[in-house]
Amino acid sequence: MEKRRFYITTPIYYPSDKLHIGHTYCTVATDAMARYKRLTGCEVMFLTGTDEHGQKIEDKAKEAGVTPQQYVDNIVTGPRGVLDLWKLMNISNDRFIRTTDDYHVTAIQKIFKKMHDNGDIYKGIYKGKYCKPCESFWTESQLVEGKCPDCGREVQDAEEEAYFFKLSKYADKVQHLLEDTDFLEPRSRVNEMVNNFIKPGLEDLCVSRTSFTWGIPVDFDPGHVVYVWVDALSNYITALGYCNDKYHDYDSWWPGIHFVGKEIVRFHSIIWPAMLMSLGEPLPKKVFGHGWLLLDGGKMSKSKGNVVDPYILAEMFGVDALRFFLLRTFPFGSDGNFSNEALIQTINVDLANDLGNLLSRTVSMVGKYFGGQLPAGCGPIEEELHFAEGCAKRNCIGAGVEPGGTACDLELIALAASLRNRYEDAMEHFAFQNALTEIFKVIDRANKYIDENAPWVLAKDMEANGPRLAHVMYNLLETLRICAILLTPFIPTSAAEVLRQVGACEACSSWDSAGQWGALAGDLTVRRGENLFPRVDADKALRELEAAAEAAKKAALPDLEIEPQLEEKVDFDTFCKSDFRAVKVKDCQPVKKSDKLLKFTLDDGTGTDRQILSGIAKWYKPEDLVGKTLMAIVNLPPRKMMGLESNGMLISAVHTEKGEEQLNLLILDGKIPAGAKMC
Ligand code: MSP
Repeated sequence: MEKRRFYITTPIYYPSDKLHIGHTYCTVATDAMARYKRLTGCEVMFLTGTDEHGQKIEDKAKEAGVTPQQYVDNIVTGPRGVLDLWKLMNISNDRFIRTTDDYHVTAIQKIFKKMHDNGDIYKGIYKGKYCKPCESFWTESQLVEGKCPDCGREVQDAEEEAYFFKLSKYADKVQHLLEDTDFLEPRSRVNEMVNNFIKPGLEDLCVSRTSFTWGIPVDFDPGHVVYVWVDALSNYITALGYCNDKYHDYDSWWPGIHFVGKEIVRFHSIIWPAMLMSLGEPLPKKVFGHGWLLLDGGKMSKSKGNVVDPYILAEMFGVDALRFFLLRTFPFGSDGNFSNEALIQTINVDLANDLGNLLSRTVSMVGKYFGGQLPAGCGPIEEELHFAEGCAKRNCIGAGVEPGGTACDLELIALAASLRNRYEDAMEHFAFQNALTEIFKVIDRANKYIDENAPWVLAKDMEANGPRLAHVMYNLLETLRICAILLTPFIPTSAAEVLRQVGACEACSSWDSAGQWGALAGDLTVRRGENLFPRVDADKALRELEAAAEAAKKAALPDLEIEPQLEEKVDFDTFCKSDFRAVKVKDCQPVKKSDKLLKFTLDDGTGTDRQILSGIAKWYKPEDLVGKTLMAIVNLPPRKMMGLESNGMLISAVHTEKGEEQLNLLILDGKIPAGAKMC
């Protein structure tokens, strides 16, 4: 039988900066879905990548003093870049597309020409409101209080010759697609799209630019580059070989499913289907718009600078713990508040206490009471097998005592044997959180089962209770086996380790066997391993996270910042009115109750001591300055500070290093006499 095929994608991310936990969230969710489909026997194509063109990247590269290509290369393939991050997070993508890849560039030129030739792309004048950080154009009516509806920043008027895509032509078809099919999920996003974008009237879409050069050139009209959304959205098909020779499996994979954040649902559910209609290609099977991870109630974003670094979290808590937290805590379709406290709590409660303890207690009891190997025949009795089969078929979790078992055995068996059904139902609806909740209900029940059966009491009389104890252990291992198989898409490394420890063979680690109670051999051997999920000391971890975030912030700051020179000119006469003099330090003292001020007694060449207060205590010790010749402006009006009078100001040079202000007094050659005029 031919395998079912499943094609799934993440958005292609902007490499304008390092990726953060929000991007990781979407990629981990897509990975879990891809792994789940592989587990169920599908052939899977999982695509992710980077969206590398556009004005913002051009600007960022200029700021960094490198070419745009060098800039994106560093973020994508450089150390701790995008590729490294997905490797670290154990992402199982089959392909990775960069929009600067040659094959994609040629394909976009062909796609653009195709749409131009069929009359859906035409030339006009673009007038609109442009939000630079978001690289989005908005109509007046879409602005919120005159600002960008996505990020709330100022927008600019923009006008230029440009090509347009006849989006308006497809408005009715797209509306039908959204309203009358399950194309867009969650369903709540459909109203948003129809009411906010389609009903007010879909305008044609500007698809080329002349105001920047970092983009794919329109080959039949030099000076125009393809504006980002045509370039970006087409990645989903160029990566399969559409309009290029790099790959040849477009027909076998397309159409697929797109996971995207809610802010780009508009592009994926309106523009993308319209583009495909224009090209005469099949539409995506589905677009799922997931929610945002919020930080302090607001969206995490690179342009706002309030981002959480997935590297720090994965290195501190482990990749699987981070993956698990992301999908266990937040319902995929809604927003959720990210916090380090919630992450630690989830690790400690679900992974360390519930799953970790169940595994280590069970495996160590099998070691202690049976030398690591259960006696043959301890597996399920006939009635239990029938009962389990029935539960799996009817998806029943109600116990009902049946002959041959005890009530708690049957309750556990019923829950575990039917788990795969409930899990599958949740996974097919992209409800990762619900799938995990179902697994953890079974894990909770198994922990309770240990307490109910008190194996340590049974073990006191092995002769009488040995077979019962072995059966209890078997039930626990079997429950762990089923849960571990179903956890594989979420925590691949740890789930494999659970399966190893409970002695599961390959056949009893499969999707089919996750729906069968009793697949483990009766005389199995457990293999003890390390504690999979150690408890996290919350206070210590939070302190370390704060320190790591601080260090990362510092490392990201520029080495040297110098204030830009003033544009405004000052006339020579005004300049000459400032009286700069050499002054010699006769005495220098800290000022009581002030961390900043030093009080100087200076010889200014007039024969009368001059007192100047200067806020430089952070950089100088008073005793080091006595005897030095400095530069001061001496005709400023007197000023009172901390009750003392200051007559002038010492001149120093200031700059910023790694975010810290640095100050150096102008120390003059000692040969210069006090009072000498500077000019
Ligand atoms: N390049 C476009 C997408 C083009 S797809 C053809 C883009 N890139 S992006 O770098 O801004 O990434 C956006 C995606 O990253 C979101 O749609 C979402 O999947 C993910 N996230 C970025 N920040 C996020 C949160 N704070 N929370 C959850 N996901 C977030 O848009």
